[in-house]
Amino acid sequence: MDPKLHLHFLRIAEDAALACAPSIGHGDRKESDRLAVEAMRHAMKSVPMQGTIVIGEGERDEAPMLFIGEQVGLGGEKIDIAVDPLEGTNLCAENLPNAITVLAAAPEMGLLHAPDLYMEKLAVGPACKGQVNIEWSVERNLRAISKALNLPLNDIHITVLDRPRHQTLIESIRSTGAHINLISDGDLSGCILASLSGSGTHGVMGTGGAPEGVLAAAALKCLGGEIQGRLVTDHNTASRASAEKMGVDFNKTYFTDDLAPGSEIIFVASGVTSGDLVQGITHHGNSREVFSVLLSTGLKGLRHYQSTLSQDGIRTTIAL
Ligand code: FBP
Repeated sequence: MDPKLHLHFLRIAEDAALACAPSIGHGDRKESDRLAVEAMRHAMKSVPMQGTIVIGEGERDEAPMLFIGEQVGLGGEKIDIAVDPLEGTNLCAENLPNAITVLAAAPEMGLLHAPDLYMEKLAVGPACKGQVNIEWSVERNLRAISKALNLPLNDIHITVLDRPRHQTLIESIRSTGAHINLISDGDLSGCILASLSGSGTHGVMGTGGAPEGVLAAAALKCLGGEIQGRLVTDHNTASRASAEKMGVDFNKTYFTDDLAPGSEIIFVASGVTSGDLVQGITHHGNSREVFSVLLSTGLKGLRHYQSTLSQDGIRTTIAL
């Protein structure tokens, strides 16, 4: 991938964060999402690539823009694009931490084309890669994490989405002595944090969005972590039959390389509200600052960026 695209992708995530920031705390998640989607779509128009949205806002008939299959960019290299224009729409609407705008990209066929489904997930950091298995019991996986990290079970912290469907999972984790970081939304950030030592998160367990699972795989591939997922449906998602038509296998465990098979991947997230991964939008007089993290398979680590946007639209970007 042309390295010049990295800055374009950074700009797309930044624009989405800047666009939805005025709606923080307004209680209208759909409006926050619309602002982020529109800004992302607009920013993609000037990118020199032949992009295809492979993870987006849904199918063409239900999403007016950034729908799966939509062609974006000025033309050029064929790139698969996965977006979550606003990960944590509620977090933004309620002014809670960890709302981010997200984009991942890879040369054609580098990211799984997954419809809108749920995914049962197990995500861990590099030290635990290859040591866990989503087919195992919760206790066996927690013991494996504890051994790989050389930490007692009661020092292990697992992030879980606060949903009624996770009641048994939560009880199983707590019965081992491990701790739970219960989050209201935003399991994608949790998956990334599990790969960053010192973040206070050692893993993510439970069922969340499949698109977030693919985006997490893109990020974890850059960080050397691992995600395993099994796709599931419910009344909110695409039907089993339509997903199977797209090639989804409901009996398969998808590993990081199945979700993000590309050898060259880039992942960018910009902060909307401040969180554990990245700081949110800040105002300094008439200028605004947006903070981002950028990961790529070539980078082996996380790079932080700060852009300042002056009142007259001049943007200055620095790597922190
Ligand atoms: P949105 O930004 O689309 O609202 O998603 C937030 C999120 O919490 C994800 O992080 C998570 O994977 C998914 O929703 C869980 O879905 P549900 O809220 O239906 O349980």
